[in-house]
Amino acid sequence: MKYQIPKGLFDILPISKEAFKETDKWQYLESVINKLAKDYNFEEIRIPIFEKTELFIRGVGQTSDIASKELYTFLDKANRSMSLRPEGTASIMRAFIENSYQQNSKLTKFYYMGPMFRYDRPQKGRYRQHHQFGVEVIGDNSYEIDAEVIDMLMNLFKRLELKNLKLLINSIGDIECRKNFKIALKNFLKPNFEKLSEDSKIRFETNPLRILDSKEKCDQEILKSAPSILDFLSNDEKNHFEKLLNLLDTLKISYEVNDKLVRGLDYYDNCVFEVVTESQGAQNSLGGGGRYNSLLKSLSGPDLPGIGFACGLERILQTMIDQEVYFPDKKGPYLFIIPACERAKEFAIILTKDLRHHKIPTEIDLHAKKIQKSLQLANKIKASNVLILADNEMDSKKAEFKNLDTREQIAVEFENLKSFITDKYYNIGKKNV
Ligand code: HAM
Repeated sequence: MKYQIPKGLFDILPISKEAFKETDKWQYLESVINKLAKDYNFEEIRIPIFEKTELFIRGVGQTSDIASKELYTFLDKANRSMSLRPEGTASIMRAFIENSYQQNSKLTKFYYMGPMFRYDRPQKGRYRQHHQFGVEVIGDNSYEIDAEVIDMLMNLFKRLELKNLKLLINSIGDIECRKNFKIALKNFLKPNFEKLSEDSKIRFETNPLRILDSKEKCDQEILKSAPSILDFLSNDEKNHFEKLLNLLDTLKISYEVNDKLVRGLDYYDNCVFEVVTESQGAQNSLGGGGRYNSLLKSLSGPDLPGIGFACGLERILQTMIDQEVYFPDKKGPYLFIIPACERAKEFAIILTKDLRHHKIPTEIDLHAKKIQKSLQLANKIKASNVLILADNEMDSKKAEFKNLDTREQIAVEFENLKSFITDKYYNIGKKNV
């Protein structure tokens, strides 16, 4: 039996045929994200991989694609319906409520990173397990917080040196506003119903707002003259949105107001946004989010507003690679020890152990025979230095220490070997590791 990874999943490996699946790229992206979160004073939250199915149905919304078609659902041994998390927001709200988190502070700023699961047709940029970095800010309804969250997302892309991105922004008001808008939209679409795509015909009854961001040409043609949700906002909502746009102008964050942006999850109200790129084809959304002022309450929690975003790490990495942005060089061990004769082996093994216990990244070629072959291996794993222990060295009790970048070579007496390497690593070498 040949075992294969399920469709739509992939391994992240030290070396992969596709660069975006390489571990060091992920580690770099994760380190930039962790630093970004620190700079904006967000704290990490870790939520479970699966939850009771009804949380996602209530949280994300019954009519959303995620809840209606894409959940990975299973029954546990006690016949309870569980689902793998398709996103983070619903679980974070559950955790906030369950831990009475509002008692800790007036404003909560969480961030999270990890895998999400959606059963969809896999293609480039769309996977059945994908990874998100997201943030949620709970307890503040101000447009200044909206701007802070949007700036954070844009700053991530700036730090990663991504170009040609567009920030789309819209306001979809509250439930009342959307109720009125839905009636107007349906009245507008009714005469053109037969010309709508099959998906949109279904959405006409279940979730007419989602027709607005249909990618189908026939729908887009009809939608050109559709009513705008921005004309249905209350004065307060209009005010909030205008102030937010003004603040984005002041902060020099470019955006494009797109009154057809509604997003695929049902919990949003007021401001919603998405960052898109040209280079990812159909799956061009790198990240998105928005306000959810009634979500906590609808999950039986306190009446507190929230806003957040999430972005897809696969799509970000693919775009970084397409745009040939900077990635740090992959670094191997500080020292590669080559015991090139049988009697050097035990000495080399003890030395390797001692250096590792001194926290010096060290590798040993346990099967070294020809020095040339071992040197090739050292270069391949990108070691910084090698230590050669062949017959000559064992006779003279001096090891050859060689820097693989500068080619400098020095013979070091066995008795000074440990302190020589330790000094070099901690005084000079570490800066280059
Ligand atoms: P979302 O737009 O559904 O939002 O997902 C966020 C990002 O995850 C997308 O912009 C995309 O980059 C990535 N993504 C989504 N599905 C896939 C997939 N199948 N394969 C690869 N990447 C994918 C949310 O999940 C909300 N929870 C965001 C949020 C947080 N809103 C408020 N707070």
